[in-house]
Amino acid sequence: MPIDVDEVRRQTRGLRSVVHFNNAGSSLMPAPVVDTVVGHLRREEDIGGYEAAEEADDRLENVYSSVARLLGARPEEVALAENGSRAWAAAVYSFPFTPRGRLLIGSTEYAGNVLALRQLAEHNDLEIVVLRDDVHGQVDVEHLQLELERGNVAMVALTHVPMANGLVNPAAEVGKRCRAAGVMFVLDACQSVGQVPLDVQALGCDVLAGTGRKFLRGPRGTAFLYVRAALLDRLEPSMLDGHSARPAGSSGFEVRSDARRFESWESNAAGRLGLGRAVDYALDLGLDAVQERVAGLADRLRTELASVRGITVHDRGITRCGIVTFTVAGSDAGGIRRLLADHRINVSVAPRSFPAGTPPEAEMVVRASVHYYNTEAEVQRLVGLLQ
Ligand SMILES: Cc1ncc(COP(=O)(O)O)c(C=O)c1O
Repeated sequence: MPIDVDEVRRQTRGLRSVVHFNNAGSSLMPAPVVDTVVGHLRREEDIGGYEAAEEADDRLENVYSSVARLLGARPEEVALAENGSRAWAAAVYSFPFTPRGRLLIGSTEYAGNVLALRQLAEHNDLEIVVLRDDVHGQVDVEHLQLELERGNVAMVALTHVPMANGLVNPAAEVGKRCRAAGVMFVLDACQSVGQVPLDVQALGCDVLAGTGRKFLRGPRGTAFLYVRAALLDRLEPSMLDGHSARPAGSSGFEVRSDARRFESWESNAAGRLGLGRAVDYALDLGLDAVQERVAGLADRLRTELASVRGITVHDRGITRCGIVTFTVAGSDAGGIRRLLADHRINVSVAPRSFPAGTPPEAEMVVRASVHYYNTEAEVQRLVGLLQ
């Protein structure tokens, strides 16, 4: 069923004050999400934090099932985290690397992930190989195949939707190649979750990390991690606490068997409940319908922008998403962002290229990221102002 735009806008109170094209940064939460978070905080205020969590025990448990449903996974394969970077790192840092292993990464791997991998490479004597882009700008699957055949690959890490070039990487094709080669495939889905349907079986990934606040429309400070059940035993978390492990004998410890081995005990229960509500909200709308609406609106924005003299749209890829990037001749990206902010239109700025192989002084682009609750009229308003 197509998205009922009027209805989702009615449920998005922030739209009364802003035109929000910064969904790749952090979306506007729908009212049911905000009400869930605030409702739980009120219970904490009224009866105490531990007591409120106990009262919400079933609903907190259901968050795992909701995330599992979103991903086509099992609840035991899901852990919750405070942000996407931590979720991703919790699994990646626990990998039993052996010296001289090779890490294959996409050229648009998320900057924070690249730094983490550089640290792991330095500490474990690993080599990072940056895979080429194909002519469309997405990861070159044939180069991946070649590198897999060269052997000694510890891990392939890919960012599904890079933060600033509009494309969706062909993750399922990468997953297929990794599986055939028996290599662990780590997918960063922080920018794809909530705007693209995800199914870990079809994607063929072993690890997937997602964040709550972006296209999923959850609260800030929420995220999740998926780890394939068959892999859990091999990944011993680099940090333990009384939630992720328990004592064994007089001096030993036993790590819990499910993916919650990657969590720590204390957590933001209100945020988690809000995350679960956001996942259910997305599932109720249907991720196919969401993707169709988001991609359609983004394409319209690209077309309109490209027709304005002096504007260059930089997006690449065969399959495109809700992230639209552009520059305006004679104006810097920050200036454009401020100009639009003066008219209560939110966009962000981002580096055009990525640290996998780029210097930090990379050119900045304006990033206008649309969601299903944006309208054609809002697109028109943005383009009209730039004109
Ligand atoms: C592609 C990508 N991966 C990972 C992250 C990190 O997510 P978080 O900020 O929740 O740690 C981001 C955040 O912008 C991102 O764009």
